Amino acid sequence: MTIQWFPGHMAKAKRQVIEKIKLIDIVFELVDARIPASSRNPMVDEMISNKPRLILLNKADMADPSKTKEWIDYFQQRGDRAIPIDSQSGKGMKQIVAISKEMLQDKFDKMRQKGVKPRPIRAVIVGIPNVGKSTLINRLAKKKIAQTGDRPGITKAQQWIKVGKELELLDTPGILWPKFEDEAVGLKLATTGAIKDTILNLQDITVYALRFLSNQYPDRLKDRYNLQEIHDDIVITFDEIGKRRGCIMAGGIIDYDKVSELVLREIRSEKLGPLTFESPAEYE
Ligand code: G4P
Repeated sequence: MTIQWFPGHMAKAKRQVIEKIKLIDIVFELVDARIPASSRNPMVDEMISNKPRLILLNKADMADPSKTKEWIDYFQQRGDRAIPIDSQSGKGMKQIVAISKEMLQDKFDKMRQKGVKPRPIRAVIVGIPNVGKSTLINRLAKKKIAQTGDRPGITKAQQWIKVGKELELLDTPGILWPKFEDEAVGLKLATTGAIKDTILNLQDITVYALRFLSNQYPDRLKDRYNLQEIHDDIVITFDEIGKRRGCIMAGGIIDYDKVSELVLREIRSEKLGPLTFESPAEYE
């Protein structure tokens, strides 16, 4: 799914998120564990104002576990509760209700003291496209509710999905837009597949990805493509991968587009193992 984010769409999406936030006790902010900062929306704090927030690092199965731990610590140090989850398998899901209850204990105690009848916690999931909102909603609902490809701008009556006895979830997520202004953020979003390859130049994305792998995960890059060594000149890496994998045009010229498609496909399908493309240290 691609959404072209024009200012009008952003304004509308923002309004819709704010409307949803009014109805709930707690926000589940879904981010991609492989890019926990770049997959956040810069205006999310403003939109959720002072509602409690639990950050869910989704697709943790695809991320580097040691980096995920660093990110959890980073968010917690900044005063946000954060947990890793995998919405496809359901791993980490049980904690969502338990932590929400803990976070809302005071509010619900006060309601009880005032004689308000106990009710389930109300929550909404917010996040950028492709971060896994629909997958998570369907998992929590234990059936298919949200349509993948849910678009901003389509309004329908809000409905609550019961998640056990203690949680109610809005059936449509709040859709946020990614940060486009920063080139590095765009390259990370493209590398992980959060935005379509056509938005940025395919070879530019791959140059970024190969440089990143050369610096951070050189052994995995070497093993995957049978490289003797990692060169500073990224063109040599392109050439070697092209030769090894037969991405060659007539006349023996390396087909850089084919190399790019291959490398990105393999990164996204975890052929190079679980990867995280940014560290909290870059943001501190
Ligand atoms: P969205 O509503 O936020 O736009 O995202 P959506 O749920 O559609 O998820 C986007 C893609 O991410 C889907 O893959 C989905 O299966 C995958 N996904 C979601 N959560 C997780 C997770 O925790 N781990 C992993 N590994 N993948 C996850 P897709 O290729 O677009 O579709 P499909 O392969 O499921 O058909």
